Amino acid sequence: MMIGELIGSGRDADVYALDGSWVLRRNRDGRSQSREAAVMAHLHPHGYPVPEIRPAGDEASTDLVMRRVTGPTLMDAAQAGEVGTAEVGMILADLLARLHAVPLPDGAAGEPGTAILHLDLHPLNVIHTSEGPVVIDWVNTRQGPPGLDWTMSALILAELALGGSELAPPAQEVLSALLAHRPAAVVLDGGVVAAARAARAADSNAGSNAVPGGLDAAVALVIAHAG
Ligand SMILES: Nc1ncnc2c1ncn2[C@@H]1O[C@H](COP(=O)(O)OP(=O)(O)O)[C@@H](O)[C@H]1O
Ligand SMILES: [Mg+2]
Repeated sequence: MMIGELIGSGRDADVYALDGSWVLRRNRDGRSQSREAAVMAHLHPHGYPVPEIRPAGDEASTDLVMRRVTGPTLMDAAQAGEVGTAEVGMILADLLARLHAVPLPDGAAGEPGTAILHLDLHPLNVIHTSEGPVVIDWVNTRQGPPGLDWTMSALILAELALGGSELAPPAQEVLSALLAHRPAAVVLDGGVVAAARAARAADSNAGSNAVPGGLDAAVALVIAHAG
């Protein structure tokens, strides 16, 4: 397999072109990607917008080969003024609601109210294409209550909103729009808020860990919006 140019790089992974149609995602820590590949392979035929996965060939389980998706991230599209902040919030809300409506994989005995969760769905993990948004970066995916996924997205936006960068004002607006579109059945109770807080605290790369009290302030902002 010939690996081409580096076309994207985030916190955990490097993404290389293989040819015009396929890319290879490789975690820098060498972790296997078989779990997220299985979830993406389940979601794609259900019509959920994730890159199509190429069935594993001779590549290592640390490598994930998927369709190349063309477009800026939703964050870049928003910064360029191509998409408004209210629309970004609506797009994220729609992606969460649609994800949680996908049936669990065959044989999975989920608790009632359990869905496939992304748990890192924010504007840098959505690619804005001419055919609509496509969700990438399924590293944190697992099954659980939809409210946890909504809270994680809200908390990540709240951390950005309080982070003092040039992204703070738009992040605040996206957060408001996201939670304004939350279905009534989705509960952001103390349990999911605590679970989301613990997940962010455990994430050594999470931005607000550097700011004492940053995570608590972000949690408070989410709770203020969720009322
Ligand atoms: N299927 C894809 N097609 C084209 N570019 C991609 C694709 N998947 C990821 N990328 C690019 O690679 C970057 C990092 O990917 P991501 O999965 O979010 O890794 P990380 O966990 O490091 O954030 C993305 O922001 C995007 O620019
Ligand atoms: Mg990412």
